[in-house]
Amino acid sequence: MTVTALKGFKDILPDEVHVWQRIERIARDIFHRFGFAEIKVPVLEKTELFVRSIGEATDIVEKEMYTFVDRNGASVTMRPEGTASVLRAFIEHGLHAKQPVNRLYTIGPMFRHERPQKGRLRQFHQLSVEVVGTDKPSVDAELMAMAWLLLQELGLSVSLQINSLGCPQCRPVFKEKLVGFLEGLGSGLCADCERRRHTNPLRVLDCKSEHCQQHYRQAPVILEHLCAGCADHFRATTDGLVSLGIPYAVNAFMVRGLDYYTRTTFELLTDALGAQSAVGAGGRYDGLVQQLGGPDLPGIGFAMGVERLVLLSSQQEAVASGNEPELFLVALGEAALATGLRLVHGLRSCGLRVAMDHEGRSLKSQMKQADKLRARRTLIIGDNELAAGAGLLKDMLVGSQETLPLPGEVAAWSAALASRFRQEQ
Ligand code: HAM
Repeated sequence: MTVTALKGFKDILPDEVHVWQRIERIARDIFHRFGFAEIKVPVLEKTELFVRSIGEATDIVEKEMYTFVDRNGASVTMRPEGTASVLRAFIEHGLHAKQPVNRLYTIGPMFRHERPQKGRLRQFHQLSVEVVGTDKPSVDAELMAMAWLLLQELGLSVSLQINSLGCPQCRPVFKEKLVGFLEGLGSGLCADCERRRHTNPLRVLDCKSEHCQQHYRQAPVILEHLCAGCADHFRATTDGLVSLGIPYAVNAFMVRGLDYYTRTTFELLTDALGAQSAVGAGGRYDGLVQQLGGPDLPGIGFAMGVERLVLLSSQQEAVASGNEPELFLVALGEAALATGLRLVHGLRSCGLRVAMDHEGRSLKSQMKQADKLRARRTLIIGDNELAAGAGLLKDMLVGSQETLPLPGEVAAWSAALASRFRQEQ
């Protein structure tokens, strides 16, 4: 019996890897344009890190973490998200002492034991960015504009929803009102809301059940309970979005699944993946660095799910990988194969992407192979052509063909051909 991958853990096969590479390349380029530096953090952390940051009463900590006891008896967890680890590293290495505001990004796998479905996996990948050391609302707008630009450059259209969750001054007042409202509802909520109204009342508000949502129509609205500081911050954030030309909608019922958020929260949503789902989400976490034992520094960030970006990208026209061969060498016959191998090596040494067939297949099947690989050109050499000192060069893009003289030494042809192809790019 063969051993298969775990449920919710996916192989990324060669024919889709280029979509991943394109997304990462564009993301890195944009992050660098906005002054972010990459940080790489471990996938395994002490469990306590996530309990203290994401929050004990969240779905992630309660039921989704891959937690186990290691050989030393310590409780460790496969990271379910990137923010906690990045902030742990930020504090541990005193990055705040090096510059007042740090802009960091990380790309890598995260682990959540969720029910797998389209765009929802147990090992998934995030592009995760954090700005630590400023609470300026213009940074909130700038960060959302960066997420927007990234999606635009990927050719994806999504909608941006934003909200404010207030701060430790105003949120408890709102929470108390909400708890009072929820108590007044009696029974009849879904099982999750029944549980959450005691453990994490804010989370009931983004319950997906239409039945529960009907009950919440009259619920108190957080945006009407913000203190003056949070209300000003929210206004300045939305003003910033307007001035940068980023379209958004306010969703006062958006509460995030992680407890560390304060003030601005946002989600980038699409309905192209079945039920409406987030391709990215984030928000401000002004108390979190201190809560994790670091200095009292504000922060904000977001993460995008790479699998969801890949799914959306794949729904568009096929994207060329950019790694297609610049030349496919079709060698026909023993002598041509031997010379061809040397020519291909010469061209590759000159920096060209070159493919060839070693199996001595027919002309037709080698041309088919070149087509499948989307090779830009083919060079056909047979024993007869070699004897005559020439090959047949076909430009697969333009559709033209020419007889290519191949005089003298193979090394000389390689250099001449490589420089010609470079000029034609
Ligand atoms: P999150 O909303 O939990 O936030 O996840 C961010 C994104 O990761 C989601 O919008 C989604 O695209 C993707 N994602 C989450 N779970 C899965 C899954 N099981 N399968 C596939 N994709 C998934 C965070 O993780 C925060 N750390 C974001 C943040 C950074 N906030 C501040 N800084």
